Amino acid sequence: MREINIGLLGYGTVGTGVAKLLIENKEILTARVGAHLNLKWIADIDTETERGIRLPDGILIKDAHKVVSDPEIDIVIEMIGGEGIAKDLIVKTIENGKHIVTANKALLAGHGNVLFAAAAKKGVDLAFEASVGGCMPTIKSMRESLVANHINAMTGILNGTCNYILSKIADEGITFQEALAEAQKHGYAEADPTLDVGGFDTAHKIAILTALAYGMEINLKDVFVEGISKITPLDIEFAEQFGYRIKLLAISKYENGRVEARVHPTMIPFDNLLASIKGTVNAITISADAVGDILLYGHGAGMMPTASAALSDIVDIARNILSGAVGRVPALSYQQENIRRIPILPIDELVTHYYLRFSALDRPGVLSTISGIIGKYGISLQSVHQKGRKMNGAVPLVMLSHAAREADVKRALNEINALDVVSNEAVLIRIENEKLD
Ligand code: HSE
Repeated sequence: MREINIGLLGYGTVGTGVAKLLIENKEILTARVGAHLNLKWIADIDTETERGIRLPDGILIKDAHKVVSDPEIDIVIEMIGGEGIAKDLIVKTIENGKHIVTANKALLAGHGNVLFAAAAKKGVDLAFEASVGGCMPTIKSMRESLVANHINAMTGILNGTCNYILSKIADEGITFQEALAEAQKHGYAEADPTLDVGGFDTAHKIAILTALAYGMEINLKDVFVEGISKITPLDIEFAEQFGYRIKLLAISKYENGRVEARVHPTMIPFDNLLASIKGTVNAITISADAVGDILLYGHGAGMMPTASAALSDIVDIARNILSGAVGRVPALSYQQENIRRIPILPIDELVTHYYLRFSALDRPGVLSTISGIIGKYGISLQSVHQKGRKMNGAVPLVMLSHAAREADVKRALNEINALDVVSNEAVLIRIENEKLD
């Protein structure tokens, strides 16, 4: 039986999961592929730590360059992460005419256009199912199952750490800092949690999906990103009163040639399926013209779910090699020559509904001053609420707007923030609710 030789770069959490599946599920993989997937090398700087897997003697080495240069290696799996050495090794792998599988969304979001073009030119596959949504078959679904559709929108919970933190604040009324500490205690958040809670990890993922969905170049720099660190139990409580949950959403839309791609805390109605997604899991709704909506749900991170996604790429490539059909499915779904540069709508041009919360002195005339400024910028209010006790002399004043232009809302907030009767910056949370006018 034919052997497909595999080299794994990075023997950390996900790398260990990949090795585990290749070794422990060898039989089922062989039965399904019709060839042996042979893990020939694993390269990692740490060759000492025990990972709990019985590896064949001598396959764990320190020299990653030996792996990408070995003429017998067919597929290289990059599980190092980051944009330094990982990028150099991927470039080298492509130059050496080998296929590459990666979970490195930061790298693809930043440098994917060049890497995909290089892989296409060299006639090798660069596969990345594990880069978005862990085990959810997001990329395969969009690229293959939905190939006959125009994709119109994607709305996703794509960061388990943020979803865990927001669920904790909502369920237990604790602060963001307390919920983050819990996430860190359980090992969900990274040591430096900025990538997660700042929304950047989610932005990497939606930048990749946006390119894939609409046939455009990856454009990370124009994806609007706002994280969850300012979300308070008070805003979650107000949201619940209005029938909303707050989620960190990745939102991508294509309408009349205009593309939206944004990441921010968002209020969604209880009956939106994404509102019930709690804890560390991920979910994404994809809306397309022939199928309507589909929902994917599953573990977006972790050793085995992410390794499972990487294995799906390895098997795809192995099957392609066996049938001599390399490059059969274009990486970004569209043939390279049909990938366009489509601008992403600046956030100031967004038109949506807003939740606005002010900390205002409880005095006659304050409400009319604030609503007067809002009216001056052409923003129409749907409702106004003043509830709760005074804190430091101020009360929370909440307004829900009709559809308004973000630039107008920001101008109004700047003027309101400068008022003497207002303490603390106004809180702005965007609302996604198709039922509103
Ligand atoms: N840090 C990510 C998360 C997983 O919390 O979902 C890797 O993308």
